[in-house]
Amino acid sequence: MRRKLAAGNWKMNGTAAALAELDTLAAALSGDGPQVVICPPAPLLYRAAEKAKGTGIAIGAQDCHMQEAGAFTGDISAAMIADTGARFVIVGHSERRDAHEESNRDVRAKAQRAWDAGLTAIICIGEALDDREADNTLDIIAGQLAGSLPDHATADTTVIAYEPIWAIGTGKVPTLAQIVEVHDFIRAELSHRLGAEAAESITLLYGGSVKPENAAEIFRAENVDGALVGGASLKAADFAPIIDALAAS
Ligand code: 13P
Repeated sequence: MRRKLAAGNWKMNGTAAALAELDTLAAALSGDGPQVVICPPAPLLYRAAEKAKGTGIAIGAQDCHMQEAGAFTGDISAAMIADTGARFVIVGHSERRDAHEESNRDVRAKAQRAWDAGLTAIICIGEALDDREADNTLDIIAGQLAGSLPDHATADTTVIAYEPIWAIGTGKVPTLAQIVEVHDFIRAELSHRLGAEAAESITLLYGGSVKPENAAEIFRAENVDGALVGGASLKAADFAPIIDALAAS
């Protein structure tokens, strides 16, 4: 059985006061539901991890550096993230691929560092609107997956998040058929790379304008094992119903 996972990416939102949402979310969770991960901004990681202890909520970072340590002013290593008590890290989010010009090779190196530090890497891939309109989606996905995923991925070390760039923060969501097509394709690509058994065990998330209103529909797809949620993860009142929809799927 693959683990179901609901991950919230707070992006550059929230100061210490926002951590109260963790209490509200924890109170809304039932013990045997999906794995829940909250990825707050880096300055909140330690406090979030302390607060989340014993709640069943895991904490993740939004990025890590591709080097182990050194003269990289302003950057954060995977080992530092693990040291806060966080257990996950998002790598290769489209906002970082775009604004920080991160290549597949960079993302792969970051994922490897995450693994080395004992973190689970949530590796993001997804096509731009131009790619979608030119019917290049599956080629883009294949290239990103081949380039961003280190060798020997396992269900413990790796989660893959499909986030079409045009669906992020826009309120536009692909059709269920479009989501099914890409998620089935990712599973097949993983199977070629890792073998069927390992590929079947890896959790695949959909991300991009997931809301309480559309979550149940998205979770109907067999190869969607959860969601990577931006805006609707900031408030427990929005995130909890998404987690409930996943639990019921
Ligand atoms: P939204 O849910 O706000 O569209 O963001 C998705 C996302 O980028 C999560 O990483």
